[in-house]
Amino acid sequence: MLARKPDRIDHVDMASLPIAALSAYAGLVTHGNLAEGEKVLIHAGAGGVGVIAIQLAKHIGATVATTASESNADYVHELGADVAIDYRSMDFAQALSDYDLMFDTMGGDVHLRSYAVLTPGGRMTYLNADPIPDDKPRDDVTVSNASVSYDTASLERIAELVDSGAIKPQVSAVVPLAEAVSAYGLSQTGHLRGKVVLRVR
Ligand SMILES: NC(=O)c1ccc[n+]([C@@H]2O[C@H](COP(=O)([O-])OP(=O)(O)OC[C@H]3O[C@@H](n4cnc5c(N)ncnc54)[C@H](OP(=O)(O)O)[C@@H]3O)[C@@H](O)[C@H]2O)c1
Repeated sequence: MLARKPDRIDHVDMASLPIAALSAYAGLVTHGNLAEGEKVLIHAGAGGVGVIAIQLAKHIGATVATTASESNADYVHELGADVAIDYRSMDFAQALSDYDLMFDTMGGDVHLRSYAVLTPGGRMTYLNADPIPDDKPRDDVTVSNASVSYDTASLERIAELVDSGAIKPQVSAVVPLAEAVSAYGLSQTGHLRGKVVLRVR
């Protein structure tokens, strides 16, 4: 479960990556089989997993739509999103159609409503977020839990993507370890950009 950090990335940025990047890789590549030219919807594009997933999907050559608050629209476009849907004022299920893949970092009702955006035979991958309702409204859609491999080979793939510049870490705050409780509170607001890193020394 160890891999070398690329020289050009500092420890703070690199520390923000393993779980988020491996989760994005699992959702888009290992389980999602995202291919160049396909269309993908990534939920919570400004979140810890979403910021990496947008960059990875663009690197693969996909067209990317994402959900985010209006205040994060410019930010997710800068990361590479082609379409940003303000989930508070717009129904993504009405706005989008014929998507090949949906990567779900939200679960619950968002997961259920996302079936509507998929093309016949489309794919869904999801992380363990809010519980997924049992009802599956479409039989033609493949649904996979994006279980993550935490191993050296996977970490080395992420390091290569960072080293090549395909993925840029997104750290919104660096907090001393002694303030871990308040950092956790920050993350629990559910509206962070990218990741918070705890500085040990
Ligand atoms: N292996 C795994 O299974 C695994 C791994 C990693 C993460 N996870 C889970 O995956 C989920 C996402 O993780 P994360 O670290 O990316 O979360 P996060 O950083 O806490 O997500 C925060 C983001 O969620 C967005 N958001 C909140 N409500 C939304 C909605 N209704 N629609 C769209 N976006 C919304 C916010 O966007 P705005 O600020 O723009 O509103 C914010 O940028 C979590 O439940 C986490 O536990 C699972």
